[in-house]
Amino acid sequence: MEKEYFPLWQATGDAFCNRVAERYELKQHLIAGRHTWLMAPRRYGKSSLIAQVQLELSTEQETQIKSYLIDLLPAYDRNSVQEIILNGVGRLMGMLESSPKHAIQLALKFLSKLKPEVAIDSSGIKVKLSPSNNPSLDIKEALLGLDQAASDNGIRAIFVMDEFQSIAGIAESHSIEASIRHAVERAKSVSYVFSGSNRHNLELMFEDSTRPLYHLCHQLGLERISVEDYQKHLQRLAQEKWQKTLDSETFTRVMELSERHPYYVNKLCSILWQSDQVPNEESTHKAWELCIQHEKSTLAAEIGRLSANQRAVLKSLAEEPTNQPRGKEFLNRSRMAGTSVSQALEVLLQNDLIYRDTGEYYQLLNPVMRDYFRDNQ
Ligand SMILES: Nc1ncnc2c1ncn2[C@@H]1O[C@H](COP(=O)(O)OP(=O)(O)OP(=O)(O)O)[C@@H](O)[C@H]1O
Ligand SMILES: [Mg+2]
Repeated sequence: MEKEYFPLWQATGDAFCNRVAERYELKQHLIAGRHTWLMAPRRYGKSSLIAQVQLELSTEQETQIKSYLIDLLPAYDRNSVQEIILNGVGRLMGMLESSPKHAIQLALKFLSKLKPEVAIDSSGIKVKLSPSNNPSLDIKEALLGLDQAASDNGIRAIFVMDEFQSIAGIAESHSIEASIRHAVERAKSVSYVFSGSNRHNLELMFEDSTRPLYHLCHQLGLERISVEDYQKHLQRLAQEKWQKTLDSETFTRVMELSERHPYYVNKLCSILWQSDQVPNEESTHKAWELCIQHEKSTLAAEIGRLSANQRAVLKSLAEEPTNQPRGKEFLNRSRMAGTSVSQALEVLLQNDLIYRDTGEYYQLLNPVMRDYFRDNQ
């Protein structure tokens, strides 16, 4: 099978570009038992960063580190959160021991209330925990028991809760958050990572002083990857594929079209790297057109859900980003009143459709959506 240079899913190993500082910081937190809250817009590379760090920790560290990631995206109520967390705890418990016999002994010692059983499947040993009708209590018991078991075995465990913003959306989420806080505060051998996209929901959970998870974690944010880092990464992979580098105009075009959004860099380059010919400006534009075509129906559905004012703001920002959206020029251009622009900006920011770049300019987050608006005037 041909090597995957630009995956559209998690990037690790050779496909992983840079993030040296973030990798170092996350690793240091995890080794030292500091809990981390990782936040970035959708498809910026949160899961890839965690997977890469998990990989490095499993090979680099002399002391034993075991980690497991749960994905909370499918969670829709307290019972489904309970199921996903118990399942993750059971997996991590299984990783703390090398035989089923020892795993069940360990589970019976620390998780007896959850009636543990041991199973083996293709991923290894798994401790099955039985949920009761009290999700918050079970979550607390499971996380506390996991920590005691890891301490007993002298192992540092890492429990990653990805797509954590899902919890904010379910009914009575506060009692779940309180159970998690209770266990996380007491953790001695488990390091927690909470990761998610919707900035608004996550900020409410971790930075609102009335919420249980307030001030529990170190925050780690992800920005886009720099031009210099992509320059090294792309040219190395171009050398590998064609024994040639991209000329500077073509490289610049890739950076401009994708706006260094990690997913769209990979989407564009995965098309370019299929060719036997090293890309030029023309083939890069054609490949970008293809990216727009691929996403048209998803984009149309997403845009269709927006109000007329929100669409008007997106269209004006797609034409030209601004750092003064309430200024005369932008109001004239969007043909809107200041208060309507403010309301629309708020919703668009909350839903991660726009962001403020390092120069404080409001921009569309998705470069394909930008061109979709530009091309359809
Ligand atoms: N450091 C990186 N180097 C190369 N490609 C990357 C990097 N980080 C992310 N990508 C690419 O960007 C895309 C999004 O990555 P990933 O799934 O890790 O992001 P995410 O923030 O977890 O997304 P989501 O919000 O959808 O969960 C993938 O195509 C991935 O391969
Ligand atoms: Mg992810």
